[in-house]
Formats: sequence, structure tokens, C-alpha cells
Amino acid sequence: MEDNVKELENQALKELVKVNDFKSLSEFKVKYLGKQGMYTALLKEMKNIPSDERPKFGAIINTSRQKIENIIYETEERLNAQELENKLSQQKIDITEPAKNTQQGQVHPLYKVMNKIIETCVEMGFTVVDGPEIETDYYNFEALNIPKDHPARDMQDSFYITQNLIMRSQTSAMQIRAMETMKPPIKIISPGRTYRADSDATHSPVFHQLEGLVVDENVSMIDLKAILTQLLKTLFGDNTKIRFRPSFFPFTEPSVEVDATCPMCGGKGCPRCKGSGYMELLGAGMVNPTVLENCGIDSKKYSGFAFGFGLDRFAIIEYKVPSIKMMFENDIKFLSQIK
Ligand code: DAH
Repeated sequence: MEDNVKELENQALKELVKVNDFKSLSEFKVKYLGKQGMYTALLKEMKNIPSDERPKFGAIINTSRQKIENIIYETEERLNAQELENKLSQQKIDITEPAKNTQQGQVHPLYKVMNKIIETCVEMGFTVVDGPEIETDYYNFEALNIPKDHPARDMQDSFYITQNLIMRSQTSAMQIRAMETMKPPIKIISPGRTYRADSDATHSPVFHQLEGLVVDENVSMIDLKAILTQLLKTLFGDNTKIRFRPSFFPFTEPSVEVDATCPMCGGKGCPRCKGSGYMELLGAGMVNPTVLENCGIDSKKYSGFAFGFGLDRFAIIEYKVPSIKMMFENDIKFLSQIK
């Protein structure tokens, strides 16, 4: 019996030296140590020897089996090392190859301009409020003193969703929402997307506005002039000249349009400002008392002023872009040039 064990062990050791891959190692394991394997067969033969000799032979078989298991383990280690070696010699790293170009994202130029104006306004004490882009006819027009069928609606060629729902054509709608929910003193700005059925080099169906509103006791045209002058000088520099021209908006009385020296030519006159030296930047005015009353604010006690910027115009001036459309085409080549 002892000889049998020795013989099996020698045979196993001879085979194991030849094992050179994981497949033959696994076949080896099955052949010698598996349930139907040769060591198991040897154990089964123990029933043929006298019972007092069995423990001795059992120990001999187990020791031999353990020896084989240890060498299997070593063989596994050897094969793993061999495999790693092979991979390393096959996979060469070419350190001269140029690195893959990873593109870094950045804030859209329009939002850079928007953020700059928001920051300046917040420093001046304004709070930012946000509102829906799909508005009711009431907030977008009626409450702003633009009744149904009023010719003033023609100024804004609007996208209607239903008779009563509209893609907001102006952020002025947020004046109403603010005055309905806040008590004076109110000092808010509301930036966001607006929509009109307009499309040419200087108009896009989607564009951006920033609305401002101040309501308190004793607010006058002087406050409007002071705040807008300060705001525009902060944005365009101290040497910028500001000009207020009479205008008309149904929700303000009196109304003005505000121009600043053309940033392209510094006021000398150029094609961009059509030779005038000025660029129209925003609409503004004293909040019409009818609008205050529409929102439940006592127009005898309180007054206010409002203003509305076209943000896209700011952005195309700031970055000297020929057409507003380029801002919305999502052409990475164009956008990544604007730092
Ligand atoms: N909502 C106006 C527009 O889109 C701009 C405007 C004018 C806003 C006067 C105002 C304002 O708040 O007082 O043309």
C-alpha cells in the first residue's frame, strides 16, 4: 500500500512539472484530487486493509496529497507570473504618443454676461427671483396693462400655446408675480428666457431678458436714473455716457429707453450703432399706477420703477459677435473661442 502511494505521488509529480497552462492544471486537479480522482480511489481501497493499519495508511495518503496540493499552489503562482510577463511583453506603452485631447467645458458666453449683470445687481441690493417660461395671458399682458386686442400686443409677436397660455414674450411678467407675493419695499431682478416669433441677424425666437423692479414709498424717476446709470457704468466702465430717451410701454408711465455710448466705437459712430455713437440697451419707466393696483399695491402710498434688459444684445456687444443666432447654434468651435 505504501508503495502504491509513493508510485502515485511520483507519477503526479512528473506530470505536474510538465503543466504549463491553466487548462492542463485544472485537468490535473480533476485527475488526481477530484471526486473520481486517483487519490480518492486510493482512499477507497483502505477498506481492503486491516482496520488497525488504516490510520497509518490514511496519514500517509493525506501527507502525500497535501504535498501535491502545495505544489499545485506553487504551479498556480508560477502560471500567474508567466501570464503577467506575457501581457507586459506584448502590451507596449508608447510614451511618445500625444495625449488624448480632453475638452474642458465652460459657461456659455450668454450666461457669463447674465451672471455678471446679476452679480452687479445683487451687490446693489437686488434679490433674484425666477419664474415660469410658459405664462398665462394675464401675467404676460393683461396685468401689465396690455388688454386683449390692444395694439400694444403687436410690439411682441408671441407664441401662443392655447388662447390663454403663452411662451412668455417678456420677463416683465415677473413684475406682477413679485408684486402679488411680496410686500414693499420690493427690489428684485428676474433673468430668464423669453420667446417671440422673430428671426433675423439681430433677433432669435428664443432670447434672454433681465427684468428689474423697485417698489417703495417715494420712489421717483431720480432713483431710476441713478440706479441705471450706476449699473451701466459698472458694466461698461466709468467713461460710458448714458442717455435717457422718452418712449412708451403700457406698464410704465412715463417710459424711457436707455442708451449707452457704443462699446464698439466708444461714441465716435460706427456701422454697429448706425453712426449714432449710442447703443440702445434697455427699456424702463415708472411703474404705471394701474399695474400697482392690479397687484393690490396702494398706488397712492407706493411708487416704483422697472427696467428690462435684452441680455443677448449685451453678449454680442461684449464678445463682438456678428449674429445673435451664433449664440444658440451650439457650435463648440465658435463657443470655445469665447473666453
Ligand atoms: N418688457 C419690455 C420689452 O420686452 C422691456 C421693458 C420696458 C421692461 C420697460 C420694463 C420696462 O420693465 O419698464 O420690450
